[in-house]
Amino acid sequence: MRALVFGASGQIGAPLLRRLHGAGWDVLAVSREPRSAAPGVQWLRGDLQHCDGLPAAVDAIFSCGPLDHFARWYAASRIDAPRVLAFGSTSAAAKLDSADPGERDLARRLREGEDGVLAAAAVRGAAATLLRPTLVYGAGRDLTLARIAAFARRRGWMVLPARATGLRQPVHVDDLAAAALAAQSAAASPGRGYDLPGGETLPYREMVARLLGAMQPAPRLLELPAPLFAIAFGAARLAGVARGIGDAAVGRLREDLVFDADPAARDFGYAPRRFDAASAAAPASG
Ligand SMILES: NC(=O)c1ccc[n+]([C@@H]2O[C@H](COP(=O)([O-])OP(=O)(O)OC[C@H]3O[C@@H](n4cnc5c(N)ncnc54)[C@H](OP(=O)(O)O)[C@@H]3O)[C@@H](O)[C@H]2O)c1
Repeated sequence: MRALVFGASGQIGAPLLRRLHGAGWDVLAVSREPRSAAPGVQWLRGDLQHCDGLPAAVDAIFSCGPLDHFARWYAASRIDAPRVLAFGSTSAAAKLDSADPGERDLARRLREGEDGVLAAAAVRGAAATLLRPTLVYGAGRDLTLARIAAFARRRGWMVLPARATGLRQPVHVDDLAAAALAAQSAAASPGRGYDLPGGETLPYREMVARLLGAMQPAPRLLELPAPLFAIAFGAARLAGVARGIGDAAVGRLREDLVFDADPAARDFGYAPRRFDAASAAAPASG
C-alpha cells in the first residue's frame, strides 16, 4: 500500500508517518523544506500548489496541513486515490460565531475546505473522510499547552483570569495519527466528518494546573480577577508576549468546548488517552 502525505513534518504528520511505516505502508511525504529520508518514507520537495514527482496513483492521501490549501490542490489534481483522509479542526464550529473577524474567517475556511474535499472526492468517485481534532498537544510545539509550558518554564509562573472553567478535551497527536489510520480502513467513514476530542474533559484551569504540576520545578499558577488580568494581558500584548491571542480567545476560557467522540468510536474504534500532562509539558525533541 502506498500513501501520499501532506503536512508530514507537522505535529500530527510526524506520528502518522511512523504509524504508516509500522503498518507496512510505503510513504511519499511532501514538504516545502529538504528532509532526510526515514525508513519507508520518501520525501518530495513541494507544497500544495506545486510538487514534482507525484505518482499517478496511490492507495490513500492524508492531509495533515492547512485544509483550505489541500482542498484547492485536491480539486485541481489528477492523482488517482480511492481514499482521502484530511484533518480540519473543531474550530470550524467553535469559532463560527466568534466576535473576532479573523477567527470567523478561519472557521469559514475550514468549513469551505471540508466541503471542497467532499465535493472533489464525490466527482472522482473517491471516498473522503474529514477528521476534526480539538486542542492538540504532545509534540511540544502546539500553540496552547506547549506555549504555556515554555512561558511558565522561563518565568516560574503562569497567569490565568479567575474562573477559567470552560471545559476542554486536549487530544494527543499520536491518538490523532492512530485515528487517521483506523478511519482509512473503516467501512463507515467515507463521506463523513468526525470530531476527535481527547479522552478526558476538564476545566481549562485544571488542565493548566496539571500541566504546571507535571513540570520540574512546578511553576506557580496565579489566578487574577478579570480587571487585573485585563491589565496584565494588555501589558503582555504590548511586550509581544501574548502574540496571536485575542480578546475572543480569552473570553472563551469560560466557555465549554466539548465535542462528541462517540461517532468516531463507533465507526473506527477511536479511543483517545486521558490527558497526559507530562507529555503536554515536554519540550519538542530534535
Ligand atoms: N495544532 C492544533 O492545535 C490543531 C487543532 C485542531 C486541528 N488541527 C489541524 O490538524 C492538522 C495538522 O495540524 P498541525 O498543527 O500538525 O499542522 P501544521 O503545523 O499547521 O502544519 C503541518 C505541516 O503542513 C505544512 N504546511 C503548513 N503550511 C503550509 C502551506 N501554506 N502550504 C503547504 N504546506 C504547509 C508544513 O510542512 P512543511 O513545512 O514541511 O512544508 C507543516 O509542518 C491541520 O489541518 C490543523 O488545522 C490542529
